[in-house]
Amino acid sequence: MCFIGIIFIHHNRQLAVQQAGSYFDTAAYIFQPPNSYFVDHQSSKSKTTQKSSSKQLNYNVNLFEELKRTSESGIDLLPILNEHKQQISESNIFKIMKAYKGPALDRFNDYPNAKPHYNSPYIGVKQDNNYCDIVDTYNLLNPQNVFDTKNFVGDYIPKSLVKKFVFPAIGQDVMPDAHMGVTVRRWKMNETATAFFTKSVLMHHYFKIGTQFMCASQIYNHIPGNGILTRKDMNVGMVNDYAKKYENKPQCFNKHMYFPYAYRLNNQTECTQFFAEINSPEYHQLKKTEPVPFIIKIGWGAHRGDGVFLFDDAKETSIRETYQNGEICGENKKDLLAQKYIPNPLLLDLNNKFDFRMYMLVASVNPVIAFYHDGFLRVSLGIYDKDSKEKGVHFTNTHLSKKTFKDAGSGRMIHNMTEEELRDYQMWTMEDLQDYLLQSGKIKNDRWLDEYLRPKFKEAFIHTIRMSQHSYMTLSGAFEMFGLDFLLDEDLNLWFIECNASPQLIGTNEYKTNFLTKMLTDMFEIQYAYLRSRWRRIQTFVAKFQTQASEQGTSSMDIKVWKSEFDNINRNRLEPEFTISQDNTWHKIIDKNLPGKDAYLGFIPEECIDDEDL
Ligand SMILES: Nc1ncnc2c1ncn2[C@@H]1O[C@H](COP(=O)(O)OP(=O)(O)O)[C@@H](O)[C@H]1O
Ligand SMILES: [Mg+2]
Repeated sequence: MCFIGIIFIHHNRQLAVQQAGSYFDTAAYIFQPPNSYFVDHQSSKSKTTQKSSSKQLNYNVNLFEELKRTSESGIDLLPILNEHKQQISESNIFKIMKAYKGPALDRFNDYPNAKPHYNSPYIGVKQDNNYCDIVDTYNLLNPQNVFDTKNFVGDYIPKSLVKKFVFPAIGQDVMPDAHMGVTVRRWKMNETATAFFTKSVLMHHYFKIGTQFMCASQIYNHIPGNGILTRKDMNVGMVNDYAKKYENKPQCFNKHMYFPYAYRLNNQTECTQFFAEINSPEYHQLKKTEPVPFIIKIGWGAHRGDGVFLFDDAKETSIRETYQNGEICGENKKDLLAQKYIPNPLLLDLNNKFDFRMYMLVASVNPVIAFYHDGFLRVSLGIYDKDSKEKGVHFTNTHLSKKTFKDAGSGRMIHNMTEEELRDYQMWTMEDLQDYLLQSGKIKNDRWLDEYLRPKFKEAFIHTIRMSQHSYMTLSGAFEMFGLDFLLDEDLNLWFIECNASPQLIGTNEYKTNFLTKMLTDMFEIQYAYLRSRWRRIQTFVAKFQTQASEQGTSSMDIKVWKSEFDNINRNRLEPEFTISQDNTWHKIIDKNLPGKDAYLGFIPEECIDDEDL
């Protein structure tokens, strides 16, 4: 039985620690009163308000040293930290450095009118306001927890690829039973966790960032503020605003060549423009050759083809009715978009449509650092026919092939393929596409992927990040892997369709399981390299701070100078000891540590970079 008897005696800021039991070598540690404390500039103006001001900042030099000695003696620190969380909280260096950014309410744009749920349990975990005090102190005292282990908390269900293969292959799942389905408070959050990897994008709606989770020594795979990227309604404004910057430089960015033009029907101006367009003679002319000129999409929250509808005759009639042919634009607040349908998709060998699911890693938002990863083709199993009313012909969502698989499963061969063959066929690699295009004579260059398609994707990713980055909350521990959908048309133009947070991580066959596992392993290599680099700098910083505080006393230290140094070291960049391996499958496309156009690693020309970047 372990018993650590520590008695804290509080008297005028003095606290004494005595120990009993067999864990300490000496009879007693005495924690001296802090030799000083910080008073920030505002409260130092008035001596009288100093004591009562909540802005008063304490730093107890001895507390940290005492805890460090305890840690070095091999005792498990977590129970001790928990027992004395109040003292630790008051002296938390990250609070003094204002490193905790607060609850991020201003970046809740995942869905309209999003609100915090800090009193509702999530993944079975209770919220604890001292969680970050404990975690970050623990990791300062036990840096090997950051440097030598990869401890995950995820909300995926226990039989998911993430929990079954990925976490064990990379590190360990420190809360294997916690998942989205647990709705009662069962556990406290594990304090050795260094990475949160969740499918739900709302973890930060349930736990306060920098208090209850996502502490200074932890990373989290969603960027508060990412709604601009992941909501179709917000994409429209994002693209239009960005395009304005390039009105006179269409060679740099032309929204009509990047995103199929879209009107938000709950926006009076755009709705009116849409009806003006569909009431024009040109539109009636167009309808003769293109039976589906638009596609209607729900603005947010619908996926897998559920929120997309063909603007066929029936849909057109109902939309005209709902908006009284544009007369009542602005009144109907339903979050719908009308988007131009790409009429000339490149087709594959069965004359079928496909789209790309590509992966983009925003590895850091402080500063922006991003990577590209190959994806694959999602191939429709229906023969493409412009006049078809079938969703599965026009939309390439894997989900829509369920019925085809069922038919094939019941013994009926489809396109001469069995169910298993169809499942494999549905996912082509980018190399498969290049081979097919070479064979069919559509391209001649056998380096087409490297010389044309990948650079084109990289450029599109860079624009996608540039048009959304102002919305991201700049937290050093936030990163996100997005799944981006693109269409390729007959002229080999790429079209951005949508960006998904938490792309499906399901290994539908062995190839995909291996592909996803490698991609995620490599992603965590990158993320831990940045976290560890940052933690190395923070360790050095805290050691320096400690030394100066114990030698000179904290009252002579200028908090502003220290804070500014902290802000600098807390920005992500790699330290030489934490490099990324050569065979990592992610390719860097942005690194804002580099100056000017170098930040885009040659993927966009200098003339396309504006003043903001220089
Ligand atoms: N503007 C468009 N033109 C042609 N096809 C489109 C267009 N928008 C979407 N699609 C097709 O429909 C599919 C579903 O659309 P998407 O916006 O990705 O909705 P979801 O969120 O349901 O996946 C896409 O994968 C693509 O194949
Ligand atoms: Mg999609």
